[in-house]
Amino acid sequence: MEIAPSFLSCDFSRLGEELVRMDKAKADYIHLDVMDGHFVPNITFGAPVIKWARPYTKLPFDVHLMISEPHRYIKDFADAGADIITFHVECDSDIEETIDLIRSYDIKPGLVIKPNTPASAVFPYLEKLWMVLVMTVEPGFGGQSFMGDMLPKVKEIRDYAKSIGKDIIIEADGGINGDTIAECAEAGIDICVSGTGVFKADDAAKAIADLKAECN
Ligand code: DX5
Ligand code: ZN
Repeated sequence: MEIAPSFLSCDFSRLGEELVRMDKAKADYIHLDVMDGHFVPNITFGAPVIKWARPYTKLPFDVHLMISEPHRYIKDFADAGADIITFHVECDSDIEETIDLIRSYDIKPGLVIKPNTPASAVFPYLEKLWMVLVMTVEPGFGGQSFMGDMLPKVKEIRDYAKSIGKDIIIEADGGINGDTIAECAEAGIDICVSGTGVFKADDAAKAIADLKAECN
């Protein structure tokens, strides 16, 4: 299991140190939650903050766009140093054009599904994707309760990917901690996002090691 601490739960007054802390704690990615106050009822940060954060770690930046029109901003996030860009299948941009635009910057594209969206919504695009992100909370806020009933979507995505001979990474996001990560591992998740579970822990290295140990 790989762990992607969500930057949303960091102490933003010490943004650089927080990233160094995650690097030392052996995180696998940094997950960055971008919210526009329109697609979701919350506003976080945009490309400039990601650009400031970029020099503090070499960990891959996994940018999760919870915005209505991702296509308009892909260039900004590419310039800011994103390594992976995921956006929602429920957004207003043309899905295929947005995937192609992300790929044109040599960035790994991913599609995200909200809890009420069926797994099949990503099937038409799967061939072009690097990752599918299955939300295990309603997007918008950190610190919510895990929705275990989202996990059957993982098998549906795996089965479809297999039928078209495609390897796909599957990430889960929301409410993942020591009590819920084992279920994710069992369901076949490759990467787990954890915000409060890692950033709010006194010892982030121990928190990440403990999360991984739950999966063995
Ligand atoms: C929710 C975000 C998540 C969130 C995870 O909209 O996409 O990445 O920050 O935080 P926790 O782990 O606290 O649920
Ligand atoms: Zn997220």
